[in-house]
Amino acid sequence: MAMENKIRPSKVLSELPPYLFSRIDRMAAGKRKKGMDVISFGVGDPDLPTPKNIIDAINDASKDPKNYRYPTYEGKMKFRQAVSGFYRRRWNVDLDPASEVMASIGAKESIHNAAFAMAQGKALVPNPAYTVYFSSARFSGHDVVEFPLKKENSFLPDLSFLESHSNDAVYMWINYPNNPTAATLTKEELGKIVHFCRENGIALFYDNTYSELSYDGYKPPSPLEFGKKGILEFHSLSKTYSMSGFRLGWVCGDPDLVNMVLSVKKNIDSGVAGIIQDAGIEALNGPQDKALEYSGIYARRRDLLLTGLGKAGLEAEKPKATFYIWAKVPDEYIGKDSPSMSFVENLLDRAGVLATPGVGFGRYGEGYVRFALTQTEERIKEALERIRRI
Ligand SMILES: Cc1ncc(COP(=O)(O)O)c(C=O)c1O
Repeated sequence: MAMENKIRPSKVLSELPPYLFSRIDRMAAGKRKKGMDVISFGVGDPDLPTPKNIIDAINDASKDPKNYRYPTYEGKMKFRQAVSGFYRRRWNVDLDPASEVMASIGAKESIHNAAFAMAQGKALVPNPAYTVYFSSARFSGHDVVEFPLKKENSFLPDLSFLESHSNDAVYMWINYPNNPTAATLTKEELGKIVHFCRENGIALFYDNTYSELSYDGYKPPSPLEFGKKGILEFHSLSKTYSMSGFRLGWVCGDPDLVNMVLSVKKNIDSGVAGIIQDAGIEALNGPQDKALEYSGIYARRRDLLLTGLGKAGLEAEKPKATFYIWAKVPDEYIGKDSPSMSFVENLLDRAGVLATPGVGFGRYGEGYVRFALTQTEERIKEALERIRRI
């Protein structure tokens, strides 16, 4: 008699929704295979080239035999000092590179490791949101309480809603400048959230991945401006320096929390490759002209796409940061099973233009669609012309 087949995915894995971006990629790949010239505003992966000084740094680093051995778990001291220097220049925050900063394989890795480090209880997770907050909490066995980010509240958390769920909450995720809504907050608004977390003994996990992609004079705050106690800030070089393929970021803040994440990391991977960290040191310490130039390019693309979408009847706020536009799905789609998915499918089928359906970021993202500004102005004009035609 055959044995029962016990080879199957874990409960968490089988319950997770399919990873949105692989589905979107597959949709676009299917169309391209049929010969369609797809203009993708789907994944938020910078199209602008990694600055040359960073490429030179990784090439040089590849010749250093010290980089051929296992790296340290926490990252090179020089990388952590570069992060610390960045916080001093940018927010006037002093971070001890020895205990308050650690390198990570992109922000994504540390999001998981931070969740794994936390005691059981509730995780407060925004919706819509970067989906990894939800999945990491589920993999870590936390009871996820999703709090809605609604337009009427400027896509900020409603603290009275959170207050009613603060019992047993262990940590809370927020991310401003925000993916996917492109919302931003003021230092004062952030201060209220920090205060709420401290009052309730909840760790604040703050994803500041987009802090350097801001426009029109707006400078995003850091929660570490309110002290480090109970706060971890997550950061990434992927967007600011077009380094998504390098996989480099960091975690910083409360030294006890940093140490907990590091303890998890020691059990999971063997640190960020030395050559990648050397490139990161150059990114943070080297000339910043390209990063500045890129912000200007994204701002021009934002204005172009926003105006064109507006003319086509797609309403969106002008974002002060991120490279996303969060547009409302036209009224005629409301009432369909998934308005955002139907709209995205229609746009792809009829115009060969790909965007991300808001529902992919959670149910409160339904009714919206996200455009990533990762196409040249020429391609944006072409996409707008096709949209106009349909
Ligand atoms: C809010 C947010 N956090 C983290 C990441 C991932 O960053 P990294 O490439 O450093 O893993 C992304 C990528 O899209 C993101 O949007």
